[in-house]
This record gives sequence, C-alpha cells and structure tokens, in this order.
Amino acid sequence: KHDEDQLIIDAGQKQFGATNCGSCGMVYSADNPEDNFQHSQFHQRFLDAIRYVGWKKERVVAEFWDGKIILVMPEDPKYAIKKAEDVRQVADSELGFQQVALTRPALAKTYLFINSDRMVVGCLVAEPIRRAFRVLVQADQEKDMTKDDFMERHRAWCCSTVPEQAICGISRIWVFSLARRKGIATRMLDTVRSTFMYGSHLTKEEIAFSDPTPDGKLFATKYSNT
Ligand code: ACO
Ligand code: ZN
Repeated sequence: KHDEDQLIIDAGQKQFGATNCGSCGMVYSADNPEDNFQHSQFHQRFLDAIRYVGWKKERVVAEFWDGKIILVMPEDPKYAIKKAEDVRQVADSELGFQQVALTRPALAKTYLFINSDRMVVGCLVAEPIRRAFRVLVQADQEKDMTKDDFMERHRAWCCSTVPEQAICGISRIWVFSLARRKGIATRMLDTVRSTFMYGSHLTKEEIAFSDPTPDGKLFATKYSNT
C-alpha cells in the first residue's frame, strides 16, 4: 500500500516538477517535450542577446566590484545601439510590452549593467520629460472600502491630477531574473541621477517611473523612501 502511494507521488513530481534553468532563468517542466522545446528556443536567443563582448569605445559611467554600468546614447555607433535594442527587447517581452516604441528615441539614454561574466544583467531607459503625475497607490488603503468607494476612488489613486515637475522619466527598468535583489536596479538609478543631466545631480523627486509593474512599484516605493 505504502509503495503504491509513493509511486504515484513520484510520478506526479516528475510530470509537474518545474526546473529553473541556472543560465537563462527560465522556469519550465523538463519532462514536457513542448516546454523543453520552448526552453531550448529561448535559452540560446536570450544568452546571445545579453552577451557583451566589449567595445573599444564604451562610455563607462560607474564601476563596482561585481560589474560596471555603460551608457548608450542615440548617436553612438550601430553595434552599441543594436546591443541596447536587443536587451531592451528581452526586457520588453518579459514585461509583456509588445514592442512599444520609445517616445523620443533621439533623446533616450540606455544604461546597461554588465556583470563580471560579461553579460548585460540590467537595462534602464531614461528619457527627458517635463512633468509627471505622481502615483498615489497605497496598498493598505484598500482595506475598509466598499465596492462603490473603490470604483470612485480607483481613478484618483492611480495618479495625482496635479502635474509635478520632473526631469527624467524611467520608461524601462529590468534586471535579469537570476541577478535580482542585489542592488542592481538601485545602482542603475543612482547612476542615472548623477549622469543624466550634465553638471547636475537629480533628486529622487525629479525622477518619474512610467507605468510601473507590481515589481516596479515595490522597487520604486522602496527607492523613493530611502
Ligand atoms: N518585491 C519586493 N521588494 C522589492 C522587489 C520585489 N520584487 N524588488 C525590489 N524590491 C525592493 C526591496 O526592498 C529591495 O531591497 P532588498 O533586496 O534589500 O530588500 C529594493 O527594492 C532594492 O532592490 P534592487 O535589488 O535594487 O532591485 P533589483 O535589481 O532586484 O531590480 C526590478 C528590481 C527592476 C523591479 C526587477 O525586479 C525586475 O527587473 N523585474 C521585472 C521587470 C519589471 O517589472 N520592471 C519594472 C517595470 S516598471 C518600468 O519599467 C517603469
Ligand atoms: Zn536556459
């Protein structure tokens, strides 16, 4: 009896057990041929996209013990623009963006975090903006509300109606899944603040996030308050 149960449990785990690829970070079921195929398709494409061979002329804007941040500007050589675009595409597909064009590509600055294994593990796109509407969402305000209250106030929550002065808009921020919670996003933002505008250091209030995801909100809230 006991052996029978054990068999069933093992079979179940085999079939549904999720594998997390240690190189590309994809979670898939290794026993499912479809999943295996999708993983093998994704794996190489992803690693090619984030591989960084190094350029003769690269604009290093920050250096750390575990990597460096380079800045790619719109007027840079084709190979640099291409790498920035490839990484942005990887980030966009993970964010579920369908090839959203940059608002003003000629003014966008792309920051890439390169780790010591020569992989681009972070990407941030910053664009100049004039004003922004502050996100007012506060998760725990939702608790004691009726449904009508909710509908009524939902709109007001999303954004303040009063525009505020902002200088730099973050239209994308992405960190490779296997490199998260190591302060990479924090260091990229700190670097944006000191290098985005020549000769001036931006405050946290002068930075605005566009359409943050749940991850993005958690990060932005933490970043703004510290
Ligand atoms: N859940 C809870 N808190 C978080 C999370 C999270 N998922 N991510 C960051 N934080 C908070 C933590 O307090 C963290 O400090 P701790 O690790 O000491 O607790 C602090 O923010 C700093 O985090 P970092 O390590 O600097 O952030 P990370 O390098 O992991 O990158 C990011 C955060 C960019 C949001 C990453 O999770 C990611 O790429 N997610 C998927 C893509 C995405 O959703 N990007 C945001 C889109 S919004 C936009 O582009 C405008
Ligand atoms: Zn993989």
